Amino acid sequence: MKNEEILKKLRDAGDYVSGQELCEYYGVSRTAIWKVIRQLEKDGYEIEAQNNKGYRLVEREDADLFSKVEIESRLETAWVGRKLVFHSETGSTNLDAKELAESGEASGAVVVADMQTAGRGRRGRGWVSPAGKDIYMTIMLRPQCRPEKASALTLVMALAVLEAVSELIPQPCGIKWPNDIVVNGKKVCGILTEMSAELDGIHYVVIGAGINVNQETLAEEISGMATSLCIESGQRSDRAKLVARVLYFFEKYYAVFEKSWDFSGLVDKYNQFLVNRGREVRVLDPKGAYDGTAIGINEQGELLVERKSDGQTVQVYAGEVSVRGIYGYV
Ligand code: BTN
Repeated sequence: MKNEEILKKLRDAGDYVSGQELCEYYGVSRTAIWKVIRQLEKDGYEIEAQNNKGYRLVEREDADLFSKVEIESRLETAWVGRKLVFHSETGSTNLDAKELAESGEASGAVVVADMQTAGRGRRGRGWVSPAGKDIYMTIMLRPQCRPEKASALTLVMALAVLEAVSELIPQPCGIKWPNDIVVNGKKVCGILTEMSAELDGIHYVVIGAGINVNQETLAEEISGMATSLCIESGQRSDRAKLVARVLYFFEKYYAVFEKSWDFSGLVDKYNQFLVNRGREVRVLDPKGAYDGTAIGINEQGELLVERKSDGQTVQVYAGEVSVRGIYGYV
């Protein structure tokens, strides 16, 4: 019997659960149950205890309990996140996940943090990671595919975050290729995928997502192109619930991805949410920038762009270039 199991049972019941029932269900003593209840109270939960009724979890909307036990009690996955490491503060969850991989941890391990002191963004940039507001999470995987196939995993994560966020806020959410989640034309989530591989095989991949959840204002230098779920929807979101839903959707879409090790089973869904679709974009290719119209992605996860200069359809690979809207971020 684990603490998160009792927590889940109390939450699902929504009412008193007798000590006797808990003892019988988990095959443990009343003292063992009482110890778990005490620990949950120490973790910040309010639990009413009545002699003849048992225990009842008092759910508080404003509690924002973001912890290992809270996330685990909400997990709906078979293998993703079943090994979960939670840090109140860490350097970078991507680095933590790499360490887990190097120490032999199995595929599907997840690291979540409340705050990062050295959050990493794409292209060597940093990722602003204050405490108590946002989500910093990384999934470690050991996919049995060739290294060149792994970049599409970033898109699997983008779809998972998109679905999870879409459940929470009424505003439409989209994906800016390859992996920014966008609400009202501004970024609410960035994804950084890193890999350790040899020519013909992958040791591991770590996929980190930073989601701007409950920040009410953003630093001036990023507020032009970034936003948070709270700013857009006017409501705070439960971060633990959101992490659990991201993992749920990730596991679901990963199962589709690993059937073919490409994006064929997900391409239509992804294109449906692609905000660049049909828009004029500027492809910042190191060999020379060019303009065109984004058509959608192909089964490799590459962006298809109809080049303005010659009408040719070009396949744009995410690793090489970045794509900007002609008139702004999207
Ligand atoms: C981007 O530049 O858009 C990608 C940002 C990725 C940030 C996340 S936060 C969790 C994980 N840990 C990191 O250090 N970076 C990623």
